[in-house]
Amino acid sequence: MRTIAVLNQKGGVGKTTTVVNLAAALAMQGLKVVVIDLDPQSHLTIHLGVNAELDGNGTYNVLTKSADLSQALINVRGNLWLLGANIDLVGAESELVSVVGRETILREAVESMVESFDYLIIDCPPSLGLLTLNALAAVKEVLIPVQPHFLALQGFGKLLQTVSLVGRRINPELKITAILLCIFDGRVTLSAEVKADIEKFLESARATQSPWSEARIIPVHVRRNIKLAEAPSYGKTIFEYEPKCNGAIDYRHVADYVHNHMGAGSRDDEFLASIAEEIDELDSTLESVEEVIEAAHAAQTTAVEELVEVSASAEVAPTRLGPIGRSKRRIVSVVTPSARRLPARRPFAVTLRK
Ligand SMILES: Nc1ncnc2c1ncn2[C@@H]1O[C@H](COP(=O)(O)OP(=O)(O)O)[C@@H](O)[C@H]1O
Ligand SMILES: [Mg+2]
Repeated sequence: MRTIAVLNQKGGVGKTTTVVNLAAALAMQGLKVVVIDLDPQSHLTIHLGVNAELDGNGTYNVLTKSADLSQALINVRGNLWLLGANIDLVGAESELVSVVGRETILREAVESMVESFDYLIIDCPPSLGLLTLNALAAVKEVLIPVQPHFLALQGFGKLLQTVSLVGRRINPELKITAILLCIFDGRVTLSAEVKADIEKFLESARATQSPWSEARIIPVHVRRNIKLAEAPSYGKTIFEYEPKCNGAIDYRHVADYVHNHMGAGSRDDEFLASIAEEIDELDSTLESVEEVIEAAHAAQTTAVEELVEVSASAEVAPTRLGPIGRSKRRIVSVVTPSARRLPARRPFAVTLRK
């Protein structure tokens, strides 16, 4: 069983959205998935269509009343089970204050189900308290969703320190394996800058013993997509609510990456090539790379803040890139063999990345 905690002590970065839709995408592939709601706000429970007040006492009972975890699971979809939370969970921290081994209660509860499921994914609360420690003690992998705005890395140090500490004291196998850029706004130059900052940071830890020495930025980001924000209030996953929207496409790719391409020896370029054809198929409003380039030429006078990112074919001849090079954005290099769709009537430029 793979065990993943989705963690960032900041609220509103996309943790719950990621847990719901990553889990749903994996379950739809036939994998047996358990999700645990460790947040007293119970957004995960509600997002999956469960009445938190009535049926959300699972996590609380497991942590404070030694309830049997497998008995407390609710089957919410095909192949998908939930340990639900509600506001009672707020009290767990103080109720457990004098309990010896209170950081490892969840780990012990989880041990019994290792054989029965393929994935355990935990939605953490926006804090680094006892509930989060229980998550970190119970898993081997940490996935950190980051919303790339200018304060994105604030608090990152504290987060990594906490993971390190848990790693040293109670869970030596713990590793931060992935950073997922969520609510990614291609029109804002900052998104790319934050990504570059994180990359630089991760690179500097490569040769060290730190739990994030193998962490990678997942090479597909989750674009800002209004459907992802609407789906929770219907108690639906994005695949039920709007299976063809960008949010559904992105989370399907994230799940594909997590399941098939993560870990040592995997090559991001191979992964990107494997999904390129699908992007081509779906984003067919621009027929050719030529068209993308013509459109980029036409947009040369636009403000940088309004640029929309598109990727273009590796086949583009260098001479064809010249004129775009004079636009306000620097062209770095060429990658995905696909031309992405451009939103109509919006200024944009072509960003080519490696
Ligand atoms: N890619 C996205 N595009 C647009 N809205 C999003 C996206 N991801 C999440 N949201 C919305 O942003 C808010 C915060 O996301 P959420 O997953 O609840 O974050 P967290 O669990 O970290 O607090 C929610 O209202 C959610 O619906
Ligand atoms: Mg949440």
